[in-house]
Amino acid sequence: MLIVNKSYGLPATFEPGLEPICYQQFQAMSSAAAKEDLSLYIGSGYRSYHDQEIIYDNYVKSDGADMADTYSARPGYSEHQTGLVIDCNTIDDAFGATPEAAWLAEHAHEYGFIIRYPQGKEDITGYQYEPWHIRYVGSKIATKLYKSGQCLEEYLKVDSKYE
Ligand code: DAL
Ligand code: ZN
Repeated sequence: MLIVNKSYGLPATFEPGLEPICYQQFQAMSSAAAKEDLSLYIGSGYRSYHDQEIIYDNYVKSDGADMADTYSARPGYSEHQTGLVIDCNTIDDAFGATPEAAWLAEHAHEYGFIIRYPQGKEDITGYQYEPWHIRYVGSKIATKLYKSGQCLEEYLKVDSKYE
């Protein structure tokens, strides 16, 4: 199990692109949602170390580093660099109130995804609630986490803290 959070980073040379399994499972999930007239699309998928550097630096300039660290990963520490993550639709708190977000929370595990940064787990994941950010872990583990309500750090018994 690949874990990337504030404690476990990746080198800049790790550049897998969006993993085919992640893309395929997302497509299957999006098709299922479409049958219920819901639209799920990729807002952001794979991001390289360099992509993340640009994004994070911009947030630091507008909000300061302490604030930025609550919602944006430093380069090398973004799960998007694993190729196993998709941000669904609009990367905006308003997404949480849409029927798409409700459907995603109930069905993502069937396709092997978890809502990676759940509400109420901010101190453990190290990040604000992100209803749009899903991580592929396979349906077995995703279903376990869905049923237990644990986040990935709790399941793996790891921290998420910068040194
Ligand atoms: N928004 C998530 C934490 C990231 O920047 O990877
Ligand atoms: Zn994300």
